[in-house]
Amino acid sequence: MKFDRHRRLRSSQFMRDIVRENSLSKNDLIYPIFVVEEPDIKKEVPSMKGVFQISLNRLEEEIHEVVKLGIKSVIFFGVPNEKDALGTGAYDENGIVQEACKLSKKLYPELLVILDTCMCEYTDHGHCGVINEETQDVDNDKSLPLLVKTAVSQAKAGADIIAPSNMMDGFVAEIRKGLDENGFEHIPIMSYGIKYASKFYGPFRDAAESTPSFGDRRTYQMDPANRRDALRELESDEREGADMMIVKPALSYLDIIRDVRNSSNLPIVAYNVSGEYSMTRNAVDQGLLDEEVIMEQMLSMKRAGADLIITYFAKDLCKMIDKGEN
Ligand code: PBG
Repeated sequence: MKFDRHRRLRSSQFMRDIVRENSLSKNDLIYPIFVVEEPDIKKEVPSMKGVFQISLNRLEEEIHEVVKLGIKSVIFFGVPNEKDALGTGAYDENGIVQEACKLSKKLYPELLVILDTCMCEYTDHGHCGVINEETQDVDNDKSLPLLVKTAVSQAKAGADIIAPSNMMDGFVAEIRKGLDENGFEHIPIMSYGIKYASKFYGPFRDAAESTPSFGDRRTYQMDPANRRDALRELESDEREGADMMIVKPALSYLDIIRDVRNSSNLPIVAYNVSGEYSMTRNAVDQGLLDEEVIMEQMLSMKRAGADLIITYFAKDLCKMIDKGEN
């Protein structure tokens, strides 16, 4: 024997199937849905082909489709009619995502509803917390109680999982305490604690109408140049009681997903964000790339160590899975 014969295990489809290390299942998929307070709307987001802003009275058909395809969990993002400096819509018991959650739980109690605990969609300045007038920066400690109120109102609306994405220090500890004190000790926290200040969120901000009116998010979201920083965020969130850890974005951050996998036993969620979706969607729609790149991208996240993937491609992926393309 002069060399190794790697091709032996690649010789046929069945042979490849039995040695395959990763695959994508419908259980892995979380589908994001943008709900608008204004009635009678189903409007495609211009920068995200195939993704819609949907009114509550149009939500039933959407949820029905999702359930029929076999998706097990959705995450709602809200687009409220009114915004203010304190983001009061975020913790309104009858706010837009709270109502979407109640409706979804009524229609399909078993479909898991994840709600994003953040203020940027509800503040008139578009930041993820309240602004300190003096520094013109987000005030960490003043934002925390409002975020706790938001999480509690989401749990009251029936959310199965709370997913805080605000990136304030201490948000996991405070939200955990708030949930526990209000009888929601059984509700898990899926922490978006490893969230980079990324330009890949651009299309989401169109969809959620949440672009900051001044400044940017770099005093709270992480610097894309940093790797060790992610492990420090992970340590805090694990200590503070996170049940699952989101890494966001995903495709340009596969090294981070792998680092987290190697350092933590928590389930890891990769957020395949809006800009990643739009790039691939456009390339596929224009015929520049074959549709199979979508599955290849999902497998890359699984291979990096992700257990779950939040993706706007979830519906397309279910159809591919039905055809055995996973
Ligand atoms: C904040 C939030 C954002 C995303 C999810 N939650 C945007 C931001 O931080 O500006 C981005 C998701 C995406 O780009 O798909 N509530």
